[in-house]
Parts: sequence; structure tokens; C-alpha cells
Amino acid sequence: MALRTILTKGDEILAKKCKPVTKFDKRLHDILDDMWETMAEANGVGLAGPQIGILKRMFIADDGETQLECINPEIISTEDEYEALEGCLSVPGVHGYVLRPRKTVIKAQNRDGEEYTFEAEGLMAQCLCHENDHLDGHLFDSKIVRYYEEEEEEGEEE
Ligand code: NI
Repeated sequence: MALRTILTKGDEILAKKCKPVTKFDKRLHDILDDMWETMAEANGVGLAGPQIGILKRMFIADDGETQLECINPEIISTEDEYEALEGCLSVPGVHGYVLRPRKTVIKAQNRDGEEYTFEAEGLMAQCLCHENDHLDGHLFDSKIVRYYEEEEEEGEEE
């Protein structure tokens, strides 16, 4: 495994739309392993392919309870939106409130290409939507409804 460089806002790669993953091979597994290592090093909750320069529809997420690898994900449903405090490893130093669902259902493939459905709540639901946005070239700060400027209790980085 190896640490990858996390791209930050201003890098045009982060604004591009990602292509589907078609090969569930060792190369994909190696990239995912690198993503886990890179996210852990950065104390992140989620990390998407484009954040390490890979324009493929995939991300990982870890809310401290569940670890998910979402390949070719699709948000099936969302409910109960609220203003969630958020940050992003690719937008360092910025925190703000974004409208996110308290519950979401996602359909995705795992690293071996097997389809699964996952019902997420709270931080995980927020994270899945945040990461999914990355796959379409959207950064969270474009959705901020209210900036957060205090230093204490910062949101977790995705
Ligand atoms: Ni992010």
C-alpha cells in the first residue's frame, strides 16, 4: 500500500465527471487499499477517487462503525434534510453547513463487482452524499448555506 496525494480545490481534476469502473481487478483493489491508507492518515470520514486523481466512480467511507467501499454507486433515496456541518479533505480550512439527508439508501458494487444496497443514517448518510457529489465534480463548498467559522468542534473531513 502507499499513501496518495490528496488533490485540493483549484485542481481541475476535482471538477470533472468520473467514469464507471468496469474492471474489478487487482489494480482496483490496490487503489482502494491506498485510499484507505490515505484517508486514515488524513483522519477522514470519506475519500473519493478523484481526490487522489482517479476519475472513476468509486469512494470509501468510514463513520467509525461501518466501513464501505462504494463502486459505481447510485443514491436510491434520501429523506429528512437538515443543515449538516461539513468539511472536505480537498477544501482544507473550510467548514460550513450543507443540506444533507438524515437517511439515505445507496446501491453500489463492492471491490469484486457484487451489487449491494445499504441504508445509512446520520454521519454515514451525509458522507455518502458528499462523496457521491465528488464523482460528478461537485465540491461541498458550492452547497454551503451558512459558513462555520469557530475553531472549536470542527466538522469531520470527507
Ligand atoms: Ni470531500
